[in-house]
Amino acid sequence: MKRLLSLTALAAFLLPIGAQAQDAQSIERGKQASMVCAACHMPDGRGSVVPNVEARPRITGLDPVYFVKQLQDYKSGARDNASMKPMATMLSDKQMQDVANYFASLPVVHDVAQPASEDMMKLGERLVKLGEWDRFIPACVSCHGAEARGAGANFPNLNGQPAEYTEQQLIAWQKGTRKNDLLGLMKPIAERLNENEIKALAAWFAAQPAQK
Ligand code: HEC
Ligand code: HEC
Repeated sequence: MKRLLSLTALAAFLLPIGAQAQDAQSIERGKQASMVCAACHMPDGRGSVVPNVEARPRITGLDPVYFVKQLQDYKSGARDNASMKPMATMLSDKQMQDVANYFASLPVVHDVAQPASEDMMKLGERLVKLGEWDRFIPACVSCHGAEARGAGANFPNLNGQPAEYTEQQLIAWQKGTRKNDLLGLMKPIAERLNENEIKALAAWFAAQPAQK
């Protein structure tokens, strides 16, 4: 009995170490597979913008579950993007997990943009923190967490993203080219926003530092 107990204790002790070693291997494999991502998302994952062509997001500081879901959605077409579809299609499920673990292991580096005009920043902040209930626009922080820093696997951190990227996403929901949101939560919100509000929100998020 005593022997059995100590074996159980030993197993409990060894399991986390085994899991950690597995994570380290997965991160290393993800690093190898991420070479191709660097061309657009930069080696440190901060993202980049090609004006009037496309905006590539910061892909560090994202929950690996959210990250893998996005890759699966690009592959299935629930999130429609010509640059990402071939990337996601090329990756196996295991490789998706590996690149997600790799980028989640990196420090969060991003370009923090200069604030836009005072009026635009005020409008952005008001929508983020209070919403506009008369028009059924909930405060972004009610789902995306305090200061919109992200909450769990379902609600991503919106800060420190290039303004062009945030705009691109809200417009994609309006147009229906992004239709992968959990329970369809984002589409009706995006549809109620006008062009000026989208610009104000995008500018506000871009001027906030992202944190893990
Ligand atoms: C040719 C440029 C390009 C390459 C190479 C590329 N991406 Fe992307 N990526 C984009 C663009 C553009 C978007 C935004 C697309 C959209 O609007 O949905 C994006 C979006 C993403 C997102 C969504 C992030 C979010 O916040 O929802 C993830 C995750 C991602 N890429 C991971 C990767 C990985 C992993 C690789 C390498 C295997 C990669 N990308 C290679 C251009 C690229
Ligand atoms: C009722 C909950 C909810 C509220 C409120 C909400 N969101 Fe979201 N949002 C989501 C979910 C869920 C996702 C992730 C969708 C997915 O899994 O692809 C998301 C994703 C996003 C993304 C994509 C981020 C990325 O990295 O690609 C943007 C941009 C966004 N939301 C902006 C906003 C803005 C702006 C507001 C406030 C006006 C807001 N959200 C309010 C639920 C919400």
